[in-house]
Amino acid sequence: MTQEDIFKKLIAHCKEYGFVFPSSEIYDGLAAVYDYGQNGAELKNNIKRYWWEAMTLLNDNVAGIDSAIFMHPTTWKASGHVDAFNDPLIDNRDSKKRYRADVLIEELLAKFDEKIEKEVEKAAKRFGSAFDEKLFRETNPRILENREKRGILHARFAKALNDSNLNELKQIIVDYEVVCPISGTKNWTDVRQFNLMFATEIGSTADGAMKIYLRPETAQGIFVNFLNVQKTSRMKVPFGIAQIGKAFRNEIVARQFIFRMREFEQMEMQFFVRPGEEMKWFEHWKQFRLKWHKALGLGDHKYRFHDHDKLAHYANAATDIEFEMPFGFKEVEGIHSRTDFDLSSHEKYSGKNIKYFDPELNESYVPYVIETSIGVDRTFLSIMAASYDEQQLEGGDSRVVLHLPAVLAPVKAAVLPLIKKDGLPEKAREVMNLLKFDFKTVYDEKDSIGKRYRRQDAVGTPFCITIDHETLENESVTIRFRDTMQQERVKIADLYKIIEKEVSMKNLLKKLI
Ligand code: GAP
Repeated sequence: MTQEDIFKKLIAHCKEYGFVFPSSEIYDGLAAVYDYGQNGAELKNNIKRYWWEAMTLLNDNVAGIDSAIFMHPTTWKASGHVDAFNDPLIDNRDSKKRYRADVLIEELLAKFDEKIEKEVEKAAKRFGSAFDEKLFRETNPRILENREKRGILHARFAKALNDSNLNELKQIIVDYEVVCPISGTKNWTDVRQFNLMFATEIGSTADGAMKIYLRPETAQGIFVNFLNVQKTSRMKVPFGIAQIGKAFRNEIVARQFIFRMREFEQMEMQFFVRPGEEMKWFEHWKQFRLKWHKALGLGDHKYRFHDHDKLAHYANAATDIEFEMPFGFKEVEGIHSRTDFDLSSHEKYSGKNIKYFDPELNESYVPYVIETSIGVDRTFLSIMAASYDEQQLEGGDSRVVLHLPAVLAPVKAAVLPLIKKDGLPEKAREVMNLLKFDFKTVYDEKDSIGKRYRRQDAVGTPFCITIDHETLENESVTIRFRDTMQQERVKIADLYKIIEKEVSMKNLLKKLI
């Protein structure tokens, strides 16, 4: 099965099992907007809790806030979003399809990478255990040729982006004979800039309504509250402000399910530091954030850093944490050194003093900022993609199982009476009532026990607890483990301890320190 097929199956699975639905589906949906169902909402809340606690509990110099989506419109002038929050667009005249010019060129770069990896794969098969991959990568003529070609393209692309040279972006597309996947032609328009912010109006038209924007990032709500939080919390630089919230972008090319949405959720933290100390903190947060991802146990090899070719208008260093999605390595989180750009700019546009008085240095300055910015939805997708598994079992049976990190699983335990009589349902309810204050628990008595296990596997429930006749005799149950499908007979009194050990947020957080 190709990665594309697996991805399609994952999308279908998300819908069938109440994780993600297309928005307003009864009206045929709204492009790049999605709703989270009963299991999706639980998983999403658990991801957010993990982030919030990692940032605000483990770092006692990070405080969390919740700022409004609507902000004064000058905010976006000051932040640079009105003038510079653009994507370079190109249309194919025959298919009438619109593309991001930079994404078309990134796909060209990825093709060189694919060619290199294919050479390595072929050689590994040919040479078997005698294969020296490092030497092969350094000496094989086809690899060297592709690497050189990639380097030339990459340098040209990075320069065009940094110079905001739209003609050159078009020229690259022409020179490399990029073809529209729909029409199959090279009939391209010029490249144009397109602003990604959604605008709306506040107030009635009679009063002279004001044009405002749906925030394209949550970060600005933090910047404008910098002094409010600093003064009321009495924190000293270095300190951070974190928040989780919705952001909105009128994405042109909205594909790949919840990877690129028009309404999405961010978890952002701005860490305010002394000018000149930003690179030290940039490194610190890069390492802390990577650890956060890896602690989920989805596979360390699935993550990598990717430094930006083009720095945003506010940054002096930037890297992405990328995750290996079914459609390749893609950005899940950005870590940016934003200098003093935002605070200085807000100071200028608002006319208010936003300086921090440093009591140790006995001087006032505008702090520099390190930002960590992660998408909830992309994290959700990365976890679902890494967890989805179709297994062939002994005896010709098969199952779909989500190996979700137990701490994030929407449901922690399912309580299942073996049959619907003899007092077993009542006993099962009793067990559920014991557990439900600590863990999200479901009760299921419909269908055979085998079918019920499969239903729980498909939503990633780590534990199934079966109540049978022996339970009535000696207060014991069977507990079935999702990944191994092993079953054990245990005392009801021990259930809390067994489940807690696996699903404890505390145990996960301890891996980060
Ligand atoms: N404040 C900085 C900022 O917003 P960004 O790299 O544009 O930086 C940060 O966005 C993160 O937000 C990304 O790494 C990604 O996870 C998420 N994100 C951005 N655009 C998104 C979209 N259209 N759909 C889903 N997630 C998105």
